[in-house]
Amino acid sequence: MRLRFKENAIPEMKENPQVFFDGKENKGMWKEIFGNDNDIYLEIGSGRGDFLVEIAKDNPNINFIGLEVNTNAFVVASRKIKENELKNVRGLIADAEKLEEIFENDEISRIYLNFSTPWPKRRHHKRRLSHERFLNRYKNIVKDKSILELKTDNQELFEASLTYFEDFSMDIIEKEKNISEEKSSYISEYERKFRNKNMPIYYIKARFNK
Ligand SMILES: C[S@@+](CC[C@H](N)C(=O)[O-])C[C@H]1O[C@@H](n2cnc3c(N)ncnc32)[C@H](O)[C@@H]1O
Repeated sequence: MRLRFKENAIPEMKENPQVFFDGKENKGMWKEIFGNDNDIYLEIGSGRGDFLVEIAKDNPNINFIGLEVNTNAFVVASRKIKENELKNVRGLIADAEKLEEIFENDEISRIYLNFSTPWPKRRHHKRRLSHERFLNRYKNIVKDKSILELKTDNQELFEASLTYFEDFSMDIIEKEKNISEEKSSYISEYERKFRNKNMPIYYIKARFNK
C-alpha cells in the first residue's frame, strides 16, 4: 500500500491545478495566479500541510504558498487544499535553494519556517533554512520589513537562529522558549507530535531590514 501511495503522489498532484511543480515559469506572476492583489505568505517545508491549511482557512484575504520538496508528504496537503476548496492556497514542489528563480523581488510578504530540519552537525549548518545562506535568498524575494516566523522543538536551532537573524541585521520582535498552544494557534503535524510529548516549543518572530 505504501509503495502504491508513493508511486501515485506525483501524478495525483499533477491533477490538482493548485499544485505547481518547479514554479520558475510563475516568477513575478503569483498575483495573477491568485487573481488578486492580496499579500502572499510563504511557508517553507510545509510537510503534510496542517499549518498551511488551517491558517489559510482563517485568512481568506491572504494568499498562502506551501513549498515542499517531499512529494510523499505534500500529496496529503494537496488533498486537503482540494477538499477544503481553499482558493487562497497554492502548493509548490521545489527546493528552497531555488527561491530566487521562483519569486520576483518583493513578491512575498511573510515567511514561515515550521519545525525545519535542525541539521545538528556543524558541517551541515549551512543547510538550515534559517542560515544566512537562506536569509540572503529570502531578503531578495520579500518586501522590506517583512516578518519571518520560526517554530522549532530544537533549542540549539532556536539559539543559533537568533544569532543568524541578529547577524543579518534583522529585528527580533518576539522570542519564546515555551510558547503556549493558544498563542501558537496554528499547529503543524510536527508541533502536535512534540506537544503530545510535552516538549517545549520555541518561537521567534523577526523582521527583515532590506
Ligand atoms: C521536519 S519536517 C516539518 C514539516 C512541517 N513543517 C511540520 O511542522 O509538520 C521538515 C520539512 O521541510 C522540508 N524541507 C527541508 N528542506 C527543504 C528545502 N530546502 N526546500 C523545501 N522543503 C524543505 C522537508 O522535506 C520536510 O517535509
